[in-house]
Amino acid sequence: MAAQEINLPLYIQSWLLDTDYSCAVVEQVYGGSVNLTFRGDLKHPLKDGTRSIILKESRGFMAAVQTIACPLHRCLAEELILRSVSKEQVVSFHENVRVRTPRHYGTLLRDDSHLQIMEELPSTRTLKDLLHYPETWLSAQQATAVGHALGKWLFKFHHSGCDRYDPVLAKALGENSWLRDDMFPMMHTVVEQQAQDFPHLFKGVEAKIIRARTDAAFMMVEEDGMALRHGDMNISNIVVSADSSDVLLGIIDWEACDYGPRQHDLGVLLAGLISVERLCHTEVAVRVLDGVLHSYPVRSEDSAFCIVAAVGAWLFLWPWWCSPPPSSPSKTRDVEGLVKFAWNLMTKGLERDRCWINNTILAPLFEGVEGSEK
Ligand SMILES: Nc1ncnc2c1ncn2[C@@H]1O[C@H](COP(=O)(O)OP(=O)(O)O)[C@@H](O)[C@H]1O
Ligand SMILES: [Mg+2]
Repeated sequence: MAAQEINLPLYIQSWLLDTDYSCAVVEQVYGGSVNLTFRGDLKHPLKDGTRSIILKESRGFMAAVQTIACPLHRCLAEELILRSVSKEQVVSFHENVRVRTPRHYGTLLRDDSHLQIMEELPSTRTLKDLLHYPETWLSAQQATAVGHALGKWLFKFHHSGCDRYDPVLAKALGENSWLRDDMFPMMHTVVEQQAQDFPHLFKGVEAKIIRARTDAAFMMVEEDGMALRHGDMNISNIVVSADSSDVLLGIIDWEACDYGPRQHDLGVLLAGLISVERLCHTEVAVRVLDGVLHSYPVRSEDSAFCIVAAVGAWLFLWPWWCSPPPSSPSKTRDVEGLVKFAWNLMTKGLERDRCWINNTILAPLFEGVEGSEK
């Protein structure tokens, strides 16, 4: 049955009836792209006092784009990695900012869909929303602290060895090839479309070169080779809550977690921040970006070039993080500038042109590199 033909909140409520997670109310949460996500108010609190949960219902297609297939075994990868990340206590702190992941309670299976049950983090919004509408608490200093905490967390996760002693998790991640098999081919279409929209930016560049360069930027492998990565570390998958003294960042949406060139986690995160900065002129986005760049130690020049090329490639997805701005000559110039920057980053990263990169916002990537000249 198609998702829109049934009352999903009621359907999920009945699915949970005889479990510890029986809910008095289930309501849809908007903002996700792949799954149908819901929050439920529990009829009876859990032993630890928890009163509400997040429910992710996965079907064999993306909720936002139903023509794109989405294999159900991604849920297993999400469940196993979330359990492992909690067990290994992959958390980070910087000043008053803390980063962690939600606890995973379990997955219920039915023939054509899976229902994941997890902790609801006390979030008020995603980092994407916050960057678009910065509230008073996100001062420039706090934005930098958010970036530092994120950079530290990502580095810690990348080097956590969460999968090392867990063959079931390692197998699930090895089989989770959604990013490689479904997302990357779609990226070609996105890049090619923008080359058609802005032909003057790609004058004299043959279509086959654009394709080859996109492939190369995605496939560039640094010295660590195929490593553990989140897989979709974008600004929509970071939830944020803050009170007068503390900020909590939650890293969610682990279904693309797999093995692959690790630079894509930084690539997708930085691309989102740059898109917001360039198209919405949001100063706090630059602060977050700066914090990330100064807290994620890049170990070699080679890694830094891979990250630069990956940021360029992911920047072509700017409409995912910034709605296209209302058309006006200055907005069109902003978008053109962004697409040109994306193409240049991809090219200069692949050409290992450090001189050019040193004059961009990504220059700090090279600062901590061994033997690097300031
Ligand atoms: N553990 C959680 N705590 C709080 N909110 C969450 C949690 N998980 C998901 N959400 C909310 O649900 C939305 C969609 O969830 P997500 O896991 O990103 O699904 P999708 O795979 O569809 O993108 C998020 O943007 C966030 O607002
Ligand atoms: Mg998401």
